Amino acid sequence: MSLVADRMKLIDASGIRKVFDLAAKMKNPINLSIGQPDYDVPQAVKDAAIAAIGGGRNQYTQTQGIPELRQKLAAQLTEQFGVADPAVLVTSGVSGGLLLALMATVNPGDEVLIADPYFVMYKHLTNLVGGRPVFVDTYPDFRLTAARLAPHITSRTRVLLLNSPANPTGTVLSADEIDELLALAARHDLLVLTDEIYDGFCYDRPYCSAFGRYEKTVLLKGFSKTWGMTGWRLGWAAGPGEVIQAMTMLQQYSFVCAPSMVQWAGLAALDTDMTAAQDDFRGRRDMIYDALRGDFEVQKPGGAFYIFPKAPGGRAEEFVAEAIRRSVLIIPGNVFSERATHFRISYAASREALSRGTEILCQIAREMK
Ligand SMILES: Cc1ncc(COP(=O)(O)O)c(C=O)c1O
Repeated sequence: MSLVADRMKLIDASGIRKVFDLAAKMKNPINLSIGQPDYDVPQAVKDAAIAAIGGGRNQYTQTQGIPELRQKLAAQLTEQFGVADPAVLVTSGVSGGLLLALMATVNPGDEVLIADPYFVMYKHLTNLVGGRPVFVDTYPDFRLTAARLAPHITSRTRVLLLNSPANPTGTVLSADEIDELLALAARHDLLVLTDEIYDGFCYDRPYCSAFGRYEKTVLLKGFSKTWGMTGWRLGWAAGPGEVIQAMTMLQQYSFVCAPSMVQWAGLAALDTDMTAAQDDFRGRRDMIYDALRGDFEVQKPGGAFYIFPKAPGGRAEEFVAEAIRRSVLIIPGNVFSERATHFRISYAASREALSRGTEILCQIAREMK
């Protein structure tokens, strides 16, 4: 008899693990596979965490998070979206929020609409909670439109997952696109989960949230990317009281609370401006797009720190294997998609690494054509 439960068969992390295993073996890889900013946590935020530890803030907090942080986040929502007294839950990263949200809202057999390409967790977590991921193909421009979404809605559809700016494509939805998607969701009485972890990385237009436009929307936001705090595990959720209460109850019996000292540091993070770092990412976005556009079919990403070009002839497996053989670490698109034609580059890397890496990738593309 297997020692692990059948549900573990629903999770397949092999694609991304293969790349990380290879990375561990390589001497000096040009690593363009990392999903986190290449800057450290700002000093003021570190100081706040250290002060919290030194000051004895080391116990469990309330399940829903420390009141100081929740009040500050709620005030932000009221100011930005005019939502009065929103329900807020502090989570262990957006990953924690996603798991709780899906567990709290998806019944076995319910369908969850996911734009393809997608962030890896969406598919696996949906399967894990007994839901059925329904993929909405958005190739070649990666825009999730109401027209593309509509044919996939059935009587079993329960949730629409949004992610803008998006991982792995960098696509940023416009206000009009979001409104059309939400109008469609409202017509079918869907719950919308909107993962806005890359809100700080929006390069061509102000970031537009899906929150505050349709009442059945759960917002998931995080500290990992904006403040380089990926290892600290802090995020938050806001939305309909009924859902946030259910998520809180689940958190009580799972994560218990987000790390205490990190919640205190989160307060300092909210007061720490990161626009200079984000402006620098805009420059790198321009640099990588310009370097690739001559040799690849590629969309200019509007946000996050990823770009998702098509491999020559759509032969991504062959292309990625060759790139890795030449020490450039990138991730094959089938990790993020039902298609295996593209690959993901993270440009959260030094300009020098980007320049050397893209030179090699373009060389391979020319050879494969
Ligand atoms: C779209 C998206 N959502 C959520 C996460 C998870 O973030 P966290 O560190 O807050 O759990 C990531 C991390 O890569 C991501 O890309």
